[in-house]
Amino acid sequence: MSKLTRRDFMRLSGGGIAAGTASVTGLAAAAGHGVRQGGVTLPYPRVTLVAAREVQVGVPHGFAYPDPHSPCVLLRIGYPVPGGIGPDADLVAHSTMCTHMGCIVTYDAAARTLKCPCHFSIFDPEKGGQQVCGQATENLPRIVLEYQPADDSIAAVAVDGLLYGRQANIL
Ligand code: FES
Repeated sequence: MSKLTRRDFMRLSGGGIAAGTASVTGLAAAAGHGVRQGGVTLPYPRVTLVAAREVQVGVPHGFAYPDPHSPCVLLRIGYPVPGGIGPDADLVAHSTMCTHMGCIVTYDAAARTLKCPCHFSIFDPEKGGQQVCGQATENLPRIVLEYQPADDSIAAVAVDGLLYGRQANIL
């Protein structure tokens, strides 16, 4: 068994600190609506989805974001919720790829939850996509939305959380 020299220790410690810094930098980029990838910050696209008045309580509005291979759902909850946008602060959106193995979750309007048909994980869109029960160990990624009062439009502008099966949200 080889011994760790002082030089090796300092080199490895420095590497650890650098990796930690890169991770924090990545988070900062995500907060600024971009993904840091290989030293380049890739911007999230801004995609106008629908007029807020067209989204009804209990009727999920499907869309894809940030690319066609990433299904998502826009929901009107009916009362203000954390992270909700729009005139009533009740519009939220999430990736519908289950964080366990990527099956597509569906909205159960009666239970007001997103349910996975594969291994029965349940997520709460009224609490930021929090996992309620099941095999998944991560919350559903939240799609960051912006509301434009001038034309009542809702746009997707970023993803909060890593999409299932990806190393980066922007491919
Ligand atoms: S894929 Fe959703 S719980 Fe397994």
